[in-house]
Amino acid sequence: MTGKSKLLSRVLICAPLAMLGALFLHAQTDLNGYWVFKVPRGDGTFTESYFELKQSGDTVTGNTVGGRGQTAITEGSFRDGKLQFAVALTGRGGQRGGTPQTLTTTYEGTLQGDKFALTMTGGRRGPTTGELDRTKAEAALPPAKLSLPALHDVRDSKLARTPPMGWNSWNKFAGKVDDQAVRGVADAMVSSGMKKAGYVYVNIDDTWELGRDANGNITSNTKFPNMKALADYVHSKGLKIGIYSSPGPKTCAGYEASYGHEDQDAKTFAAWGIDYLKYDWCSAGNIYTDEDMQAVYQKMGDALAKSGRPIVYSLCQYGRNKVWEWGAKVGGNCWRTTGDINDSWQSLDRIGFGTQVPGGIRKPGEPAPPGLTQLDIAPSAVVGHWNDPDMLEVGNGHMTTDEYRTHFSLWCLLRAPLLAGNDLRDMTDDTKSILMNTDVIAIDQDPAGLPMKRIAQEGTTVVYMRPLKGGDIAVGMFNRGDQAADIGVTWDSLGVAGKKLQVRDLWKHAAVAVSGDKYTANVPTHGVAMLRVTAK
Ligand code: GLA
Repeated sequence: MTGKSKLLSRVLICAPLAMLGALFLHAQTDLNGYWVFKVPRGDGTFTESYFELKQSGDTVTGNTVGGRGQTAITEGSFRDGKLQFAVALTGRGGQRGGTPQTLTTTYEGTLQGDKFALTMTGGRRGPTTGELDRTKAEAALPPAKLSLPALHDVRDSKLARTPPMGWNSWNKFAGKVDDQAVRGVADAMVSSGMKKAGYVYVNIDDTWELGRDANGNITSNTKFPNMKALADYVHSKGLKIGIYSSPGPKTCAGYEASYGHEDQDAKTFAAWGIDYLKYDWCSAGNIYTDEDMQAVYQKMGDALAKSGRPIVYSLCQYGRNKVWEWGAKVGGNCWRTTGDINDSWQSLDRIGFGTQVPGGIRKPGEPAPPGLTQLDIAPSAVVGHWNDPDMLEVGNGHMTTDEYRTHFSLWCLLRAPLLAGNDLRDMTDDTKSILMNTDVIAIDQDPAGLPMKRIAQEGTTVVYMRPLKGGDIAVGMFNRGDQAADIGVTWDSLGVAGKKLQVRDLWKHAAVAVSGDKYTANVPTHGVAMLRVTAK
């Protein structure tokens, strides 16, 4: 045989063999079972999405696993080492009453050994590449419900006698928060005058977590190299530091959370020097029912009480199951009353004035109970235990100065926690003038802690009042409409008719001349006029 014909016969023999081998290999690859799609986040952690795949010939079916229910995968195939499938998810983008939207995500990958290099396209972000690897049902499916304690009243920590004031990372930084940003914000809280105005908590929201060490202690990821050192730094500025977790196995952003480690985590937080915990329902919803919420939150309330450190306890379960009726009993200092706010007038208007507070638990087969307003539940907040309509968006850039004034004024009238959600390192003068309006802050922090009442409503204008310690009255005149409007308040409706009055406009920082039986302000669209009335 010549060299050439030798080569030819080798090719003729080897090529079909190789093809056969490849076919055999793929035929051997049994996709049936649980898989995890892991994408590195760049902070030492991975996003993890779970699938159960079923293979029949070239066709792949199955579903997503682990989240809220299962979604069937469609258009699935596995041919010549190439896997592809799609998942169509319908959701409301987190807003009650939002329009449902369907988002179709497609997955495509090639077999490499026993794993796939997989690319996901069509999600909220651009195409993402990661690894699809085999996993076990225990990793993919939600864990068992923990046995829940009998209900009792957790000892009152006596913290947060006025609504907590500070900053939280989520609204501006979301997943981008890190040690450096938190130190910078702490510095800015002091240098900008925010600390002097009363802000004290520097709160790290979701995405600080890594996993657990060999002893089960929760650890922080590469964005936060040393939590204790960070806490020491924040404390050295005369400020306090907050952190975030969930009673579920994962936080809302899919990071490690406190399920089954409640006592241990409370001790870790105390050892780090943490002063504030936001405890967010998130994946607990895949394990527990809304009826379980009180016992679940009590568990962490007890753990914090035992931790040996005073830690403000902030409940975040979006106002479900009438949390204002039991939040104080589990040791809660504040509790969220709605879903997430965003930096838009629509969101602010809905949360601040609309019926976004869940009216109770939805029973199977029954319509959801009608939603309530912040005003409806205002009387349920008492000293040390506050309703929390979510963190501030002031200064984040997508609302007008008037809208941000409305946001801040309403939150102060509601006695809400004042957690700035902007980048304190970079604030415009307008933003500073709102967040550091000490006249309006004084309304929020009024020691009497009495609830707000509505005294007038006409079309898109509404007037609220709140009695303050010492007999003064705070008044907010709000214009939700698209045009400037004259809004009036009668002295009679405030119960001060016939008295000698001193009235101060809290946004103009000036005394207001009064005569007659009412005061009328021309209020810009989406704006507010806020008064402090002293009657002698
Ligand atoms: C939920 C909360 C938000 C924020 C995110 C973090 O959506 O309501 O305030 O904490 O989780 O993932």
